Amino acid sequence: MTPQTEQATPTTGLKRNSLGLRIWHWSNSALVMAQLLTILFLSVIVRTKTLAPEFSKVLAEKGVQMSPADLRGLSRIVSHRIWDWHIWLGLALAVLLAYRVLVSFRQRGGQRTAAKLARLKARTAQGDPTVGLGVWVRYSYRAFYLVLAVMVVTGLILVFEDYFRSIEHTAKEIHNVSMYIVIAFVVAHILGVFRAEVTHEPGITSDMIHGGRPVEND
Ligand code: HEM
Ligand code: HEM
Repeated sequence: MTPQTEQATPTTGLKRNSLGLRIWHWSNSALVMAQLLTILFLSVIVRTKTLAPEFSKVLAEKGVQMSPADLRGLSRIVSHRIWDWHIWLGLALAVLLAYRVLVSFRQRGGQRTAAKLARLKARTAQGDPTVGLGVWVRYSYRAFYLVLAVMVVTGLILVFEDYFRSIEHTAKEIHNVSMYIVIAFVVAHILGVFRAEVTHEPGITSDMIHGGRPVEND
């Protein structure tokens, strides 16, 4: 029998990364990478702007003459298909961002971003040299959420451009520039995760898959 005076270690058993966060993380990663792929196809691989002259050359060899306007119309079919993918993936990203807001309300205790940040700050205050960068990494996630929100809002303005003619151009510029911030984040993030995995936080990636240890053991 357990003596009455013995206190059980308080444990909530909550995993470090909630199921909602993990579902959001991997779905969002896939969609962002797919969005970047659509741009890679449009501007590097397919390069629809150069298709019309190429079509023209091949058709001329076969003795077929087509006006440049008709040829541009043909190459637009290709770019429209890719843009359709971009728009549907973009709408899915918008829904996922809304889901992330919901997740932040449903996370409990140590799973919350603020609690993770507080734990890191406490460890830094105790002189743990491995967590200094971790605090900045957490802030970089917040910055990323902000950029993602900008991407979604400007993307939605472009989807419904008929209602936003006066700000369409500005939205396009912001949308374009934000892409470079997203690319910088993705590269830095993946390199950072690799570094953490082989140095002071082995298992950090599998924690994002199965949830990890209970938060109170962190
Ligand atoms: C990480 C995510 C995203 C990236 C990297 C990205 C990148 C881009 C880029 C580079 C352009 C070209 C802008 C230009 O023509 O100058 C573009 C256009 C566009 N994006 Fe995105 N985007 C993303 C997310 C979204 C989202 C979330 C939506 C919608 C909800 C969206 C909807 C659009 C639309 C409608 C256009 C204009 C297409 C056209 O000109 O026909 N994008 N995007
Ligand atoms: C192979 C690719 C990726 C791996 C292995 C990976 C791994 C991870 C890991 C282990 C964490 C938790 C880090 C921590 O606890 O401090 C994390 C968090 C995060 N990742 Fe990734 N990631 C990948 C791709 C991406 C991509 C492409 C994006 C966005 C475009 C992304 C956005 C985020 C964000 C925003 C967080 C913070 C989540 C939060 O706590 O609110 N990740 N990632």
